[in-house]
Amino acid sequence: MINNENNRQQELTQGISEVLIPEESISQRVSELGATISRDYEGRNPLFIGVLKGVLFFMADLLRQVTIPVEVDFIAISSYSLEARNKGFVRLVKDLDTPITGRHVLFIEDVVDTGLTLNYLLQNLKSRFPASLDVCTIFNKPHHRLIDLPLKYVGFDLPDRFVVGYGLDYRERYRNLPYVALLKAQTITPNIRT
Ligand code: IMP
Repeated sequence: MINNENNRQQELTQGISEVLIPEESISQRVSELGATISRDYEGRNPLFIGVLKGVLFFMADLLRQVTIPVEVDFIAISSYSLEARNKGFVRLVKDLDTPITGRHVLFIEDVVDTGLTLNYLLQNLKSRFPASLDVCTIFNKPHHRLIDLPLKYVGFDLPDRFVVGYGLDYRERYRNLPYVALLKAQTITPNIRT
């Protein structure tokens, strides 16, 4: 029984080279963000909006650290080619269920890298006239930023490396690691930036 469990864990972690941010540090930071956001949004009944799927874990943890009433909605975007992504093209495959006109919207992100995806989504949301629109990202990768975007709440600045875990995937794997990690060189194909 214990051996089976160990084997399963090994299967998940064998591609990992190094833990960059341990689980305890993430949970500490998420609870700080939750406290700050609860203070800042008191009495404003904010709507948290996340993009599936990467934000799943952060959204769930953050919501449980927020002590004021809040509503939640999600959008989903298509996975896109590197070329399309570089042009800032994003296709919504699931739109919001909630109208956001006049609402205080906090956009919750897993990671901001070039900023192209976020920029597209923020423009889209702005055109619906929310009362306010701010961004909270758990991870920020500032090294390849192409568009300067105001990030009101940031969990961690990351080095210029490709990371997985806590929602972030490599080819749809590793999202369920409770920490953030680097992949072994042999796990990665050459066209992914590490
Ligand atoms: P951006 O448009 O360049 O800001 O890219 C944001 C998207 O790229 C994220 O939502 C992730 O899907 C992906 N991404 C960027 N860096 C990483 C990483 O280090 N690990 C996993 N996904 C990443």
